[in-house]
Amino acid sequence: MSITYLEQERIFRLDTPNTTYLIGLVGTEGLLGHIYYGRRLCSARGAELFLRTQEHPYTPDTNARERVAIMDSFPAEYSGHGVGDFRESSVRVRDKNGCSGVQLTYLCHEIYDGKKPLEGLPATFGGEREVTTLVITCEDKALGLLARLSYSVFEDTDAIARSVCFENGGGDVLCLEKAMSGCLDMDNRDFETLTLHGGWARERHMERKRLGHGKFCVSTLRGETSHQEHPFLALLTPGTTQTAGEVYAFHFVYSGNFIAQAEISQFDSVRVVMGINPEDFCWRLLPGESFQTPEMIMVYSSAGLGDMTRCFHRLYRKHLIRSPYLHKKRPVLINNWEGTYFDFDEKKLIDIARESAKLGIEMLVMDDGWFGNRFDDNRSLGDWQVNEDKLKGGLKYLVDQVNALGMKFGIWIEPEMVSRDSRLYREHPDWALAIPGRQPALSRNQYVLDISRREVRDYIMEQVFSVLHSANVEYVKWDMNRPLTDLAGAALPADRQGELYHRYVLGVYEMQQRLITEFPELLLENCSGGGGRFDPGMLYYGPQIWCSDDADAIERLSIQESTAMLYPLSSIGAHVSVCPNHTVGRVTPFETRGYVALAGTFGYELDITKLDARDAAMVKRQTEMYRRFNELVREGDYYRIASYQENHLFDCFQINDSRKERALVFFTQVLNEPNRRSRILRLQGLQPDADYQIRQVDMEGEELLKDTGRTVNGSVLMEGGFPFERLWGDFRCRLLYLEKAGE
Ligand code: GLA
Repeated sequence: MSITYLEQERIFRLDTPNTTYLIGLVGTEGLLGHIYYGRRLCSARGAELFLRTQEHPYTPDTNARERVAIMDSFPAEYSGHGVGDFRESSVRVRDKNGCSGVQLTYLCHEIYDGKKPLEGLPATFGGEREVTTLVITCEDKALGLLARLSYSVFEDTDAIARSVCFENGGGDVLCLEKAMSGCLDMDNRDFETLTLHGGWARERHMERKRLGHGKFCVSTLRGETSHQEHPFLALLTPGTTQTAGEVYAFHFVYSGNFIAQAEISQFDSVRVVMGINPEDFCWRLLPGESFQTPEMIMVYSSAGLGDMTRCFHRLYRKHLIRSPYLHKKRPVLINNWEGTYFDFDEKKLIDIARESAKLGIEMLVMDDGWFGNRFDDNRSLGDWQVNEDKLKGGLKYLVDQVNALGMKFGIWIEPEMVSRDSRLYREHPDWALAIPGRQPALSRNQYVLDISRREVRDYIMEQVFSVLHSANVEYVKWDMNRPLTDLAGAALPADRQGELYHRYVLGVYEMQQRLITEFPELLLENCSGGGGRFDPGMLYYGPQIWCSDDADAIERLSIQESTAMLYPLSSIGAHVSVCPNHTVGRVTPFETRGYVALAGTFGYELDITKLDARDAAMVKRQTEMYRRFNELVREGDYYRIASYQENHLFDCFQINDSRKERALVFFTQVLNEPNRRSRILRLQGLQPDADYQIRQVDMEGEELLKDTGRTVNGSVLMEGGFPFERLWGDFRCRLLYLEKAGE
């Protein structure tokens, strides 16, 4: 079993294949202390020493007069608030007297095979043989509060999923002002932090820095995960690389306001907390009610960042993404957004579909502009009726025509929003978020619907369902194009307005669940102005997320590198678009754009009827390449070889099949340099004693694969490397295909 309670030592031991996590009980009151998290231990014997209860100031049982000093240095498993521990609290509760102290102590525990779902929330899952769960119930007697700390360990990946469920077991109302999903205390080891930051069209760039005294946090208050910050924080031992060093990684399965924080205390211990951002959060718990926090994932690796990446990929593929498309080749799609923007009609779309079908594209996605009076982005959100002036013959006619060409059909929606200029807003102005007496702030000329309200969700889903039922729609792109502001819900009483941000996120989840329940075969791609809501929570509902509105191949190298550090490539929405690129004006070779998009879901976002003959021929070759390699990209193991984000010159990553017999190696020379010899880069994860035949993808030759005439031993490729020759020009990419010789 992978979770045990060692009764004599009063230690909970949690094991994943390569890690151990230990929690200890201390003293008569049952303080819950964090003992150890790291490489797997043979035995926990003697590990309670890490609680330091044998040294000054000892324990409350032996040194009651110094309780404050004890609480402020004790490695807490889940920190309390206001009663002696001055580091970051994990929970804060306002009681009927207006006081806020909390101290949770052990009450009982339960260990079981499997994992229960979290009601209304996305969460990892697994069968009874795949995951084991420990629930430690703690209490605060003074408040009448119960907290169930839940830990699930997976048999096949080094991840632990944590969450907390609070229950008001007393007779008075409690206000939960802060409810972190987890907390981790340990000694500092000169840790560096790794976090992801960005903005619209340049999401999730990596930042690494030394963690100093005080607090370092990433957070958002935008009501969605955000383009700016990502709910991810990792602590790395100094000098950690892709292949060496210790990594403690934390990722939040949630799509709204979050905080991830690391703090170094006076005694050089580190405390990490992660959870819903407590700012503007206040949840009223009536007697008998409970509150479930979202889930936080912890991954530890002693073998560098690459190993961490593959743990996350395994976890998300096997235990988070539920879509029937997870292990299926997704249709190569063409989206008309950058091709036409709002300027299209049914003829134009059918022309695009006709040309696309000839070149191996399999699905047409009709983006924004098909409903109401949506001729630009100033109006009609909320009016989910097909504009039959624009689409003559209606949606069914269009879809039937597209289907007759052998193409599937997909559609864009933005269900959480309403335009000021819309029938919906005129009829239900109170359905938009707005603070009484204050004009709500517009963004892209639109307001946010209060989807915490059931009637609003019902109305919107009814409209959307009726569109989707009216024709053979097989894909939906669900967009969300502005952050939340003016938080006030007309249906909530004053003392519950602090619940609105979270209730909004629960509303999103409920709507998405309804959508995939009603249309179980639907391919759902989430989106938020590109990658503003790219998070594990959304992946629970749809298997892919549009990664960024920036489809420039070079900017995408960085965005996709950081995204792929946590998420499987099969979840990363990536398309080939035209040049000069619409976001940065850069001109890159059509080949390069195809290779970059191949490392994602793959598709096109351009007016295919306007391509010249060379580019059109290349589309045909690229779709052939996608069919040839998609399984490897979708299911393979990902290895980062070189980072353009770090070196500003070139980029390289590799995908191996699970048997290590086949590999794809993507090398991009971003900037050419004069008078350079080849770059020797070391490959990873191959069989050291196997020889590999090396071929390269050829976009213009007779065959897709061209022999390089080289067969190289796996150990040579890994220990010595492979010389990537200098390519002529900037933004050039080489794609190598390695196959075990004799296979
Ligand atoms: C967002 C999306 C784009 C496109 C537009 C349409 O910006 O990210 O891909 O769908 O909305 O308005």
